[in-house]
Order: sequence, then C-alpha cells, then structure tokens
Amino acid sequence: MNPHIRDSAVQFTAQLAATPLGARQARRLAVETLAGWGLPSEGPALIVAELAANAVTHGRVPGRGFRIGLAVRGGVLRIEVVDTRGDRIPGVREASEGSEAGRGLVLVDALADRWGVDRGLPPCKSVWAEVDLGGGAGGRVAGTRDAVGSDATP
Ligand SMILES: Nc1ncnc2c1ncn2[C@@H]1O[C@H](COP(=O)(O)OP(=O)(O)OP(=O)(O)O)[C@@H](O)[C@H]1O
Ligand SMILES: [Mg+2]
Repeated sequence: MNPHIRDSAVQFTAQLAATPLGARQARRLAVETLAGWGLPSEGPALIVAELAANAVTHGRVPGRGFRIGLAVRGGVLRIEVVDTRGDRIPGVREASEGSEAGRGLVLVDALADRWGVDRGLPPCKSVWAEVDLGGGAGGRVAGTRDAVGSDATP
C-alpha cells in the first residue's frame, strides 16, 4: 500500500446514469481510482458495485443519475453512493437460504469496517461505507494480510 496516500487526503467523485451500465462504470472507476492511489481495490470495488447496483435499482428515479465518491482521509477509505430516493432507506434483511436477493448489504457489512445511510439534501440520500486502511491496527482492506507468525520462533 502507498503510505503517502494512506496518510494524506485525496478524493474522487463521478456522476453516472442510473442504469446497469452506470453501475458497471462505478465499479470500473473505483478499481482505476484506487489503483491510481496505490490502494488494494478488491474489497472496496465490491462495496462500490453492490451500493451502485442498489442505487440503480432500489434508489433509481427515472431521469435522475447517481453519484459515487471515494475519499481517503486519516487512514480511512470512505465510499459514498448518493441516489435520489431519499424517501427509501435500506436495511439489512436476513439472507435466507436459497434466496438470491438481499445479499448485497450483507456483503457490504462484511467488507466494510462501518457503513450507514445519511439523509442528504432532499431528494438525496447517501449510503456510505468506510474501510480502515491498515498500516496500524485493525485494517480489513482486502489484499492485505497480517504477517502472522512471520517472526515467530519455531
Ligand atoms: N439505495 C437504496 N435505496 C433504497 N432502498 C435500498 C437501497 N439499497 C438497498 N435498499 C433496500 O435494502 C434491501 C437490501 O439490499 P441488498 O443490496 O442487501 O439486497 P437486494 O439489492 O435486494 O439484493 P442483492 O443485492 O442480493 O441483489 C433492498 O431489497 C432494498 O429494499
Ligand atoms: Mg443489492
């Protein structure tokens, strides 16, 4: 991981169409941006993909787009996906066996250190997730691993 990025502040935003193509673009832009920042992107890109998929299905208002934001500040990567259905607030459902739906936010919950929903200026809401960028204690960024036992005496 790039220590300069982890310790500095950078941000990226993009406004996209609320369509399946827009959701795929969100994921691709996240991968490219995080790679440009020297950060592992696997887990964060999955978070972006799930939140963007939700924005273009559950959070879609015809004719309106959605926005993604990525920012690193204070050793934390913050992902935000803003849609224009501020009247609909997501929640985690029990993912029942055999059910195909309802797993996106369960995945986000597993990959992120924190996530939540903020009401924005009407009609917007922001679904956000934060990933601690390691380099200290507690990082859960995909692609990093603690070198457990690397200096342990056999
Ligand atoms: N951006 C959003 N706006 C409004 N409601 C949302 C939003 N995101 C999620 N929800 C609500 O929360 C529920 C759970 O979302 P989740 O992503 O876990 O499952 P899903 O989208 O229904 O299915 P899957 O992600 O597995 O395809 C959704 O079914 C929807 O009712
Ligand atoms: Mg979903």
